[in-house]
Amino acid sequence: MDLLRLLARPPALPDTLLPCVDDLIAVERPDVPMHCLRPAAIIGAAADFVAGFPGEVLYAVKCNPDPAVLRAVWDGGVRHFDCASAPEVALVRGLFPDAVLHFMHPVKSRPALRAAWAGGVRDSVLDCAGELAKIVQETPDEERGLLVRLALPRGRAAYDLSGKFGAPVEEAAALLRAARPHAARLGISFHVGSQCLDPLAWREAMALAGAAIRAARVPVDIIDVGGGFPVAYPGSVPPPLGDYFAAIAAAFAALGLPEATRLWAEPGRALVAGGVSVVAQVLLRRGDALFINDGIYGSLSDAGAPGFRFPARLARPAGPAPSAGLRDFTVFGPTCDAVDRLRVAVPLPEDTAEGDWIEIGQLGAYGACLRTGFNGFDAIRSVAVRDPPML
Ligand SMILES: Cc1ncc(COP(=O)(O)O)c(C=O)c1O
Repeated sequence: MDLLRLLARPPALPDTLLPCVDDLIAVERPDVPMHCLRPAAIIGAAADFVAGFPGEVLYAVKCNPDPAVLRAVWDGGVRHFDCASAPEVALVRGLFPDAVLHFMHPVKSRPALRAAWAGGVRDSVLDCAGELAKIVQETPDEERGLLVRLALPRGRAAYDLSGKFGAPVEEAAALLRAARPHAARLGISFHVGSQCLDPLAWREAMALAGAAIRAARVPVDIIDVGGGFPVAYPGSVPPPLGDYFAAIAAAFAALGLPEATRLWAEPGRALVAGGVSVVAQVLLRRGDALFINDGIYGSLSDAGAPGFRFPARLARPAGPAPSAGLRDFTVFGPTCDAVDRLRVAVPLPEDTAEGDWIEIGQLGAYGACLRTGFNGFDAIRSVAVRDPPML
């Protein structure tokens, strides 16, 4: 664990003394994808969220569990972490002995429940009677927190999360009733889907949570509004986060719950997306197609089937200035699989060529952590930089 703490230690230099991406490319000429962490961007996003959200902020570790990212989230003031597995619990506990951890995966193995409890995790989520029975059997009564995950109808989020987890309102009410005697804290949680642009989605979900609580007729201590808070991508700029917080606060107040009822959120993407870019190198140009050394089996999985567009720019530290005119390139990743291709064409200077570097931004969320070693393309470098986010 000491090694983990060492890895997560903030850079010894203040951010202003960190190198910038272009200098690193010029000096290092990276021939494997270079992950450029912007600690200041993550610290700032986390601090803004903590300051603005009218409740407790739990960082969703799955979104980016890099120890340096976790440290930046912590430095931004986040003290609660939403973990989805025993290894995530061990990782966060090893870094932050004083953090408050929550087990927010609705399906957990018995060994994972026991390991999490031993790691100090007291709250866990469930969406059916079988999981409630499992948690009650595997964890001691005292201090146990239970949250019932509510199912939501398919919403307008870029990433739909309905259909796998969650109990419909009537079932959720029955679960709240069944869980109450076993819970030192009882809550209800939901997730509107990831990258949800519409603040009203939380208002609608909150109304369903209220219906479940009323039907349950038992006291509920926590409303957990999940993640889903969006960030900007090219062509898609969400309203300010304050609009989401205001919608949530108003919907929470409208439920008329006792004053002691707490509000939680589990943001992932909103805290870390802007905090990482990836510098990939062009391996070959063939007409309007570029083959680069990162792709959908690497950091760019969201640019594959989900069709996310990311900000991209050419970096050519030595040699002629890139041409002013842009052209839409089809970008392929390095593996032999034909699906290893960005779904949306990327506008780059017309003279983009083999050996150039492309910096792709907004990859801090669900980028690096979804990398695979498919075809042997798993080498990366990680550096800390002082550049601002690319959007
Ligand atoms: C239970 C839970 N909480 C929080 C999150 C984080 O969501 P986001 O990154 O959209 O904020 C997720 C993401 O899948 C999740 O499953």
